Amino acid sequence: RKRIAVMTSGGDAPGMNGAVRAVVRMTLQENCEAYAVMEGYQGLVEGGDWIKQMEWADVRGWLSEGGTLIGTARCQDFRERPGRLRAAKNMIEKGINGLVICGGDGSLTGADTFRKEWPSLLSQLASSKEITAAEQEEYKFLNIVGLVGSIDNDFADTDATIGCYSSLGRICEAVDYIDATAFSHQRAFVIEVMGRHCGWLALMAGVSTGADYVFIPENPPPEDWEAHMCDIIKNHRALGKRKTIVIVAEGAHDRDLNKISPTKVKDLLSGPLKLDTRITTLGHVQRGGQACAYDRQMSTLQGVEAVRAVLDAKPGDASHFISVVENKIVRKPLLEAVATTQAVAEAIENKDFDKAVSLRGDEFKE
Ligand code: F6P
Repeated sequence: RKRIAVMTSGGDAPGMNGAVRAVVRMTLQENCEAYAVMEGYQGLVEGGDWIKQMEWADVRGWLSEGGTLIGTARCQDFRERPGRLRAAKNMIEKGINGLVICGGDGSLTGADTFRKEWPSLLSQLASSKEITAAEQEEYKFLNIVGLVGSIDNDFADTDATIGCYSSLGRICEAVDYIDATAFSHQRAFVIEVMGRHCGWLALMAGVSTGADYVFIPENPPPEDWEAHMCDIIKNHRALGKRKTIVIVAEGAHDRDLNKISPTKVKDLLSGPLKLDTRITTLGHVQRGGQACAYDRQMSTLQGVEAVRAVLDAKPGDASHFISVVENKIVRKPLLEAVATTQAVAEAIENKDFDKAVSLRGDEFKE
C-alpha cells in the first residue's frame, strides 16, 4: 500500500487546511495510508512522532479553520544537506513513498532540491548502512507533488496561489474600514501590505479599492515618482476627493532599487501636500483567519488532484505541482515554474522591469 504524506511549509496561508484535508481524504479514498508531517520540513528532519498517521475524522471541520493545523516552519536545517539526509532517512523509516508539499516559492524550491539530490542521499545512507540495499532500490524514486500555498501569489505558471484571494479580501475589508475614517477627517493613509517580492496583493488591492497610488516591486514608479505621485493626488483632491489612499507593497522600491518606505511616502503627503497623514501596516491580519470560498474549493480540488498526480507518477517522471489556469486544475512541471519564479527576482535585481512585468503577467503593466 502506498503511504502518502502531506505537509505545509513556509508562511501559513488560508486554505492550507483545506488542502491537507483533501489530500488525507483522497489518499484514504484511494486505499492508501495517509500521513501528516508536522511543522513543515522540520517534521521531516525530526521524524518519529513528527510524522503522524491520519484518519478520515482527523481532518473533520478543517475547511473553515485558518492557518495550518499541522503547523509550518521556515526550516533552517532542511536548507543544509545533513538535514535533508535525515529527512530522507526518516521518510524511508516511515515507509513514505509519496509526498505532497503545500507551500510557497521557497518551500517548493526546497522540494525541487530534495528531489534532485534524492539519489545521492540514498547512496550516502546505503553506504553508511543506515538503509539496506533493498530499501535503496525500493525508494529510488522520490515522488513529490507541490501545491502552491501562499498569500503572495508569487509563483509562476498558476493564476492563483492557495490563500491569495482570502488575503486580498481581508486587505480590501481593512482598506474599506480605513476609507471611512479617512473620509471623515479628509486624511491621507499610507497602507503597507505584504507580498514579499511580489506586488500582486498591493496591485489588486489598489484596483479593488480605488486607491490613489500603488507601489509594487515589478513595475516601480517613474524616476521622478515624488512629483508624479504628488501631482496625481493633488488632482484627485482638486476633483473633490476627501480622502487619499496610497498602497505600498512591502517590497516596493524605486527604479534604482532604493526602498520606498511608507514613512518616505507619508513625509511627502504631509510635507509638500500638507495632508494630515497616517500610516497603517496591515501585518499578519492579512494572513490569518478563515479562507474565503474560492480558497476552500481551490484547495480541495487541488488536493484531490495532487493525490492523483502522486499515484500516476512513474519512475523518472519530473515532479509536478498543481496549478490553476483559466479556472482549470492542471499539473505543471515544478522545475520550470521554480526557474521562472526565480527569473522574476533576478529581473528585478537587474533592474529589468519590463522582463519582470512580462514574466508576472499583463496585469502588472501600467
Ligand atoms: O510569504 C508570506 C508572507 O506573509 C510575506 O508576504 C511576508 O513577507 C512574510 O511572509 C512574512 O513572514 P513572517 O511571518 O515570517 O514575518
